[in-house]
Amino acid sequence: MAEPKTITVLDIGSTKVVALVGETADNEAGFTIIGVGMAVARGIRRGQIINVSDATACLKEALAGAQASSGMKASHVLMSISGNHIASQNSQGAVAIGRGDQGVSFDDVNRCLESAQAIAVPNNREILHVIPRHFRVDDQDGVRNPIGMLGFRLEAQAHIITCATTAMQNLLKCAHMAGVDVSEFVLSPLASAEAVLTPTEREMGAVLVDIGGGTTGIAMFIDGSAWHTKVLEVGGAHFTSDLAQVLRLPMDAAERLKVHYGHAHPPDVPGDQVCDVQGFGDEPLVRVSRREAAEILRARADELFGLIEQEIKRSGYDGLLPAGLVITGGGSLLPGLRESARETTGRPVRLTRPMNLYGLVDNLQSPAFSTAVGMLHWGLQGVVAKPSKRRRFNPRLDLPGWLRNLLPD
Ligand SMILES: Nc1ncnc2c1ncn2[C@@H]1O[C@H](COP(=O)(O)OP(=O)(O)OP(=O)(O)O)[C@@H](O)[C@H]1O
Ligand SMILES: [Mg+2]
Repeated sequence: MAEPKTITVLDIGSTKVVALVGETADNEAGFTIIGVGMAVARGIRRGQIINVSDATACLKEALAGAQASSGMKASHVLMSISGNHIASQNSQGAVAIGRGDQGVSFDDVNRCLESAQAIAVPNNREILHVIPRHFRVDDQDGVRNPIGMLGFRLEAQAHIITCATTAMQNLLKCAHMAGVDVSEFVLSPLASAEAVLTPTEREMGAVLVDIGGGTTGIAMFIDGSAWHTKVLEVGGAHFTSDLAQVLRLPMDAAERLKVHYGHAHPPDVPGDQVCDVQGFGDEPLVRVSRREAAEILRARADELFGLIEQEIKRSGYDGLLPAGLVITGGGSLLPGLRESARETTGRPVRLTRPMNLYGLVDNLQSPAFSTAVGMLHWGLQGVVAKPSKRRRFNPRLDLPGWLRNLLPD
């Protein structure tokens, strides 16, 4: 096997920041995790930086943990990006094929995807990803890998994801202040998909749903690539604040109630079960009916899956997702979510977390780490990002794995 490559990834979550160091290896995952660092999120709200110095301290803490366990100091990281400023649209590009006798070259694909980027992007937005959905070579449509095909005209259908420039700049600033440069930004739900979607789900059509603390990331995969993406500003924290408000509990008590006794499917909770939770100030313990708490959580779950279903319908790909919802993220640990998702959307549901991990994997086999682990897949599959200045488009990284693997090193 070639010389191992090492990368560091930073998942900027609303509740936690995770730094992982991965090294390519000859195992099922393709890499071993050799460094792990974590920090409770500060200065980050609903996936976005709201306090630069707090967030920087948090990034430093996570990076220091990863450095201590791996013994390696990162100069560049792959960083997740999320928040409701993310927007996506589909577009198409077309170019003449360079040398008709040798077939489509990588350069042709690159130029074609560049031309697909010719969409009106306002000054205050950046193109984050350009993901090829499929190609057409002359009259041959639905081509997945055009390289080497003979023809005169190459067309690409692409999914283009944009983000607010300021949101990206704030992340960059925090990274610089924490002593690292960002080689690449990866939209969180796309990273999670790398960790948990099966090839069959990607091919047949499935919706990746990452329920985090402050956001829920959605990525619809059809025919092997992402066709629609969205970040909703609803996450696990909303379930907690509903409990806190309705039952008049402090947030930390409501969070404990949710994590230890919460359920989102009331019929599965015996009606006579109660739990005692700490009230405000010197108040004695407050007695809460578990069923009542489940009714509150159920209402929020139904609303969240209602929003997801609305987004699926809005995308226009409603009928192309037979594999249903594949749900991950820390928020998916709430028991009863599967039933709520199934009943609200009428689709098949699979709850999942990162599998087949090698190395320092204690604690990482939770759905809360799908994004961080998926970023290692993203960065180590095919080629590793070359350190570069800010970019608008890097086809090496935005191409799906099958196409990236065809590229020369
Ligand atoms: N056992 C559990 N039951 C219910 N909810 C849980 C459980 N464990 C964790 N959670 C919830 O998971 C959420 C955090 O998930 P995660 O770590 O994936 O979020 P994040 O990546 O930090 O945030 P985001 O992706 O929204 O920016 C919290 O709201 C937390 O309450
Ligand atoms: Mg997350």
